[in-house]
Amino acid sequence: MLPADSGIAEAASVLRTGGLVAFPTETVYGLGANALDARAAARIFEAKARPSFDPLITHLADAAELEKLVGAVPAAVAALAERFWPGPLTLIVDRPAAIPPIVTSGLATMAVRVPDNAYALALVGEAGVPVAAPSANRFGQLSPTRAEHVVRGLGGAVDVVLDGGPTRCGIESTIVDARGGRPVVLRLGALPVEALEEVAGPVTVRPGSSGQPVAPGTLAAHYAPRTPLRLASGGEPPAADGVRRGFLAFRDRPAGDWAAVEVLSAAGDLTEAAARLFDALHELDATGVGEILVEPVPEVGVGRAVNDRLRRAAATWHPAG
Ligand code: TXA
Ligand code: MG
Repeated sequence: MLPADSGIAEAASVLRTGGLVAFPTETVYGLGANALDARAAARIFEAKARPSFDPLITHLADAAELEKLVGAVPAAVAALAERFWPGPLTLIVDRPAAIPPIVTSGLATMAVRVPDNAYALALVGEAGVPVAAPSANRFGQLSPTRAEHVVRGLGGAVDVVLDGGPTRCGIESTIVDARGGRPVVLRLGALPVEALEEVAGPVTVRPGSSGQPVAPGTLAAHYAPRTPLRLASGGEPPAADGVRRGFLAFRDRPAGDWAAVEVLSAAGDLTEAAARLFDALHELDATGVGEILVEPVPEVGVGRAVNDRLRRAAATWHPAG
């Protein structure tokens, strides 16, 4: 683990020489490799135990790099990049020849974004290459919002973990395909649908389906803690069956005798709730309770993405096929 304040040069050199660097973004920590280097990208899939059908997001240091990498992009895509980059928005573009197919899992399209985090921008800029990075967790598990989460989850599989403190948004970027004009949201995320609609007019939200995924982060079972997790309403007390249970509440502490309680935002603020979501789940997971009950938050703004993560965490994993 290196402090992000002093570790950028070393981390950038690790990226340039084909290594893996975990780094903070404004959303969650990413597990980065040189996106132009197929062997480096392959190491990401190994380290995460990520299925090869789940494509990576490529990170750029500057919106101007997009055109250099892929050429001209459709007007609706350019407009969203112009308005929201750097920021928690991932855009779908055609994959350029310079990006090896392993990065996009063989898709003809590529997911790309410019993160809004000074350390991430410095790292990608200094590396001088586009950086492919999914979230820095093992496949299907909770996304890391702190450097310690990365170390706990991936440990020795990463060459360098840059510690830049807790991430600001706490949940992943919103993924949008605007190539056809009207934006289609492939994954709800830190940029609220309402913010997109202010710029682009009505958008379509495609709920991820299980089976062959459009955006595999949208597999029904995903973002799961190790402990079984179930959706609950705030009012119901824990069953008296001897199982120790934890409760993840939105704003009010639940009544009853819970073994552990995390409140996402005592002020009822959805942005704060999103920022604390994975952190709180990591905490509850570490208490060793037998089950975690989670209370959905209001279904508005970034609350939609929070509920999406809670529902997926509660879903049972059914391997494709
Ligand atoms: O906030 C974020 O997006 C973080 C940080 C590190 O940037 N990254 C992230 O990556 O959350 P992750 O692990 O969720 O994986 C990337 C997601 C996957 O769900 C993948 O399916 C989707 O992006 N994706 C990548 N390329 C795609 C493409 N060409 N078409 C549709 N979805 C794509
Ligand atoms: Mg992920």
